[in-house]
Amino acid sequence: MEATTLLRKQHQEVNALFKQFEKADSASQRRKLFVQIADNLAAHATIEEKLFYPRAYEGEKLQHLLREAVEEHLVVKRVISDLLEMEVEDEQFDAKIKVLKDLVVHHVGEEQDDIFPQVKKNISRAELIALGDEMEQMFDQLITTEPRQNVPGETGRAALLH
Ligand SMILES: [Fe+2]
Repeated sequence: MEATTLLRKQHQEVNALFKQFEKADSASQRRKLFVQIADNLAAHATIEEKLFYPRAYEGEKLQHLLREAVEEHLVVKRVISDLLEMEVEDEQFDAKIKVLKDLVVHHVGEEQDDIFPQVKKNISRAELIALGDEMEQMFDQLITTEPRQNVPGETGRAALLH
């Protein structure tokens, strides 16, 4: 699958999890959904930072957009770290999840509207498919390892792009 198609698919999956979280009524359901959201976002951010962004990092416009993207990832990771320390019963939990969702929606919008079209101009379809396959493999491996646990250790500064 093309790397951009894979990332779009993952964006939709996370969006669906946020929607389920908003509808969930029991604390145990909410905790389970938050764990899924955090694991999915953590693994997604890792495959972008380790594989997709470094490959996409060419030309002034993309470099500028990607530097902003890793700063947005950093903010997302800081909010996830806060949430990992809270109980779902905390009266601020839902408000913080809402902030996380807003950050993710904004970031996804910039990726899909600005970054992906530029990347598709620079990278051939064959290479995008090979990259997507490599990213999918890394994601499938990571998602089995509770990747949210790595997030608090990644809140110091934005990921390096090259
Ligand atoms: Fe991203």
